[in-house]
Amino acid sequence: MSYKDQIDLQKLPRHIAVIMDGNGRWAKGKGKLRVFGHHNGVLSVRDVVEAAGELGVEYLTLYTFSAENWNRPKLEVTAIMELLISTLNKEIAKLMNNNVRLNAIGDLSKLPGKCHRELLAAIEKTSVNTGLVLTLALSYSSRDEIVHAAQQLAAKVQSGELQPQDINEQLFEDNLYTGGMPNPELLIRTSGEYRISNYLLWQIAYAELYFTQKLWPDFRREDLFEAILDYQKRERRFGKTSEQVN
Ligand code: FPP
Repeated sequence: MSYKDQIDLQKLPRHIAVIMDGNGRWAKGKGKLRVFGHHNGVLSVRDVVEAAGELGVEYLTLYTFSAENWNRPKLEVTAIMELLISTLNKEIAKLMNNNVRLNAIGDLSKLPGKCHRELLAAIEKTSVNTGLVLTLALSYSSRDEIVHAAQQLAAKVQSGELQPQDINEQLFEDNLYTGGMPNPELLIRTSGEYRISNYLLWQIAYAELYFTQKLWPDFRREDLFEAILDYQKRERRFGKTSEQVN
């Protein structure tokens, strides 16, 4: 039986977050430039988005470009930004056909103007869709996101709109970039690295972590299904005892 057939659709994670890592090493292993890896990484993105939508996963959040990634060689940064624009242009019709709603989190103001504009246009165009919410984390830093939420709440306290004692977990969560989204139940990281790298630190408090040796350009739909199956075999307890959850 294929992995897909073994998945219990009643127990799907609603939200899957992915750290797409290993594009550079994948390319290097083939004696090519890092950018070649990013281009092939886009093929994995397409495959995984389709597969997640097909299953009925509600939210897929991809770590596409971290705030720290701005420090990469200028040529690589430019290439990734151009790849983002060309991918959005190429895939928008497919996103519409597949009922995918595009979303982005991060400090988007740092993106090059053209990239920022095209991204907002694509988000606007797909805003009528009601299927999978595909969120790209761009120029994203989880610590920045948390500081930003604290600043927003502090401003409301200063204006008298809010009392300090009104601030609770829910309100804090609502002020993150991911406000309104459920927290990820499953976090996948490719390329054999066992790190979180400043990704969704608040949101993954109870997520199941899944690490695979596969490099991102090699991670395809079957690998997503395998990760979901692994997730479904685990017992999620949220601090309770095994007897309490069963
Ligand atoms: C990680 O591999 C990958 C990235 C930092 C970029 C991810 C970008 C894409 C897959 C392309 C654009 C995506 C969309 C959605 C249009 P790495 O470069 O860190 O690999 P390494 O660890 O082997 O160096």
